[in-house]
Amino acid sequence: MNKIKKASDSLTIMTNIVLPNETNSLRNLFGGELLAKMDRCASISAARHCKRRVVTASVNHVSFNHPIPEGGIVVLESKVSRAFSTSMEIYVDVWLDDVINEKKIHTNEGIYTFVAVDEYNKPVPIPQMEPETELEKVRFDAALRRKELSLILSGRMKATDSVELKKLFTEG
Ligand SMILES: CC(C)(COP(=O)(O)OP(=O)(O)OC[C@H]1O[C@@H](n2cnc3c(N)ncnc32)[C@H](O)[C@@H]1OP(=O)(O)O)[C@@H](O)C(=O)NCCC(=O)NCCS
Repeated sequence: MNKIKKASDSLTIMTNIVLPNETNSLRNLFGGELLAKMDRCASISAARHCKRRVVTASVNHVSFNHPIPEGGIVVLESKVSRAFSTSMEIYVDVWLDDVINEKKIHTNEGIYTFVAVDEYNKPVPIPQMEPETELEKVRFDAALRRKELSLILSGRMKATDSVELKKLFTEG
């Protein structure tokens, strides 16, 4: 339990092809279908990190930057970006793998919070995570700020109690 984990320990990659029943009227992947895939991928990363049952506590951010067409090959990659006491932040990156033109387009990203729970749905402690790559360090450093924002937006924290968010506005 006390072993410090790496982000790569939770790496999860899911590859799918977009089928007609998953598309919208423009024949692009329907947003809700993508959200479900991202949630699934993130939940596997969370479980791999803490080796526990996990639940989604919050979807902190999702961006849809590029449409994914019917027949497109979608690659989802998720990793824990920071572990707190019982909760962890998971980053999901989504790529369109254009194998014909040999291009990988970053189409989406999502940031999720998962909580490790016991059989009574009670939160339980999780191992800490140490970032290694530059990108992992950037995401790790900003995760506390995002946690505070998510807690404020869900009514679990008063804005006046935030530490990291305040720094954003007070430090030059
Ligand atoms: C998520 C859940 C287990 C939290 O339980 P709780 O009794 O409120 O627990 P706590 O208040 O102690 O919070 C546990 C952790 O989650 C974090 N958390 C809870 N809500 C959060 C939110 N909206 N954003 C970010 N973090 C959140 C807390 O900060 C705490 O983190 P820490 O221990 O790492 O500091 C509980 O709310 C739940 O079961 N929700 C339903 C989950 C679910 O069904 N999801 C799937 C379908 S949508």
